[in-house]
Order: sequence, then C-alpha cells, then structure tokens
Amino acid sequence: MVDLKYIGHSAFQITNGDKAVIIDPWVDKNENYKWQDEPIKDILLTHGHGDHLGNAVEISKAKDAEITAVFEVANYCKNQGAKVRPIGLGSWIKYDWGRVVFVPAFHSSSLPDGSYGGCAAGIILDIDGVRIYHAGDTCLTGEMKTLRELYAPQIALLPIGGNYTMDVEHAALAAKWLGVRTVIPMHYGTFPEIQADYEKFAQLIAFGNTTCQVVAPVGAEVNTEN
Ligand code: NI
Ligand code: MN
Repeated sequence: MVDLKYIGHSAFQITNGDKAVIIDPWVDKNENYKWQDEPIKDILLTHGHGDHLGNAVEISKAKDAEITAVFEVANYCKNQGAKVRPIGLGSWIKYDWGRVVFVPAFHSSSLPDGSYGGCAAGIILDIDGVRIYHAGDTCLTGEMKTLRELYAPQIALLPIGGNYTMDVEHAALAAKWLGVRTVIPMHYGTFPEIQADYEKFAQLIAFGNTTCQVVAPVGAEVNTEN
C-alpha cells in the first residue's frame, strides 16, 4: 500500500511497504515528525533552495539514504558527505520501491553557499501504478499539459502560496491542465509572503471529478477536507 504523508511546506514522505522516500525534506520545523523513526531509503530534491534542501544531507548520512537530484545539487550534497545519484530531467530513474522522472519547473536554483544549482525540477513518481506529481517551486506553465499527455498523474502536489510560485488561481488552472483527480496544496503559509487562502483554492478546484484535499502537516490539526 502506498501511503502519503505531508510533513509541511513542500516536504512529503511516501511509504511503500517497508520503504520510504522523502521529497524536499525541510522537516526540522515539524517537531511531530521524527525522520529518525521512518524507513527512509531515498531522498528526492526538486532544487537547491534551503526550504527544499532542508535536512537532506543530515538524513542521508544518518540513514545511508541516497539523494537523487539534478547534477549541481547532487554534487553539492556529495561534497557535504551525502550519498548521491546525480540525474538530469526527462528519463525514468528506477528504485526498488518505484520509479521517478524529473521534469521541468520554471524557477531558479542555488545552493546555500550561493553556488549554481542547475535547473529546478518537478518530480513525477510512479509507485505501484499510483502517479504523483510533486511540482516543486514553479509558475504555471504549458508544460503541465505535456505532463498530462506523457505521464497522466492522478495526484498533484502543487504550490499555492504565490510570490515565489503559482498562486491559488494559477494552481487551480494547473490542476485542470494536469487532469489530476486529487490536489494537495503545499508551499503556503510558511513565510509572511506566501500566505494563501486554501479554502478559496478548494472551491476553485471543485470542478469535474477533481477534488482538493487540504492536508494538515503530520501532528497538526486537520484543517479541512473538500
Ligand atoms: Ni525555491
Ligand atoms: Mn521554495
């Protein structure tokens, strides 16, 4: 069974049986989430910004978990002592828990030391037939229509906070273009400049068969479900 946990901001853990993968693990803000207790085998990073790189290197070292990221981000992590798998956009990468493909995101990417982070990415995950799109940080882009054609994701994890990414209006349009059934909003509320009206988003999303599930971070009160 595939289990999806929202940890907060853009951080998610997906567990398949006895193996877990964590995406953009900026997790130390959530004191209810204990990565030490989770069966993390792999770490996926959409780009090098601190709110996505987060605790990746620390988790990699402690768990002997491999970080998969675009070449420049992977190299930075390797220099910090992490186990890495450098990749580029556009082809399936296989694991024993599933497979993923890194896809374009329209955003910048740099590392904490200011060095260049290569291209920013989103990630399509295919885990036992469950297709999940983690958009990373991105604006709305026509690429999303292509993602639908190529990968037909069922679930989308979309940033809605605006300022650095899509806002609620554009994220709702993204959901439509992606043709997904379920949307989980992310990357909002964490900083003053990315406040978002998630209830309005849930309303905008309520078209056709698409629903928005506003998921509270692990340990927090559940906000709402629509
Ligand atoms: Ni960013
Ligand atoms: Mn960000």
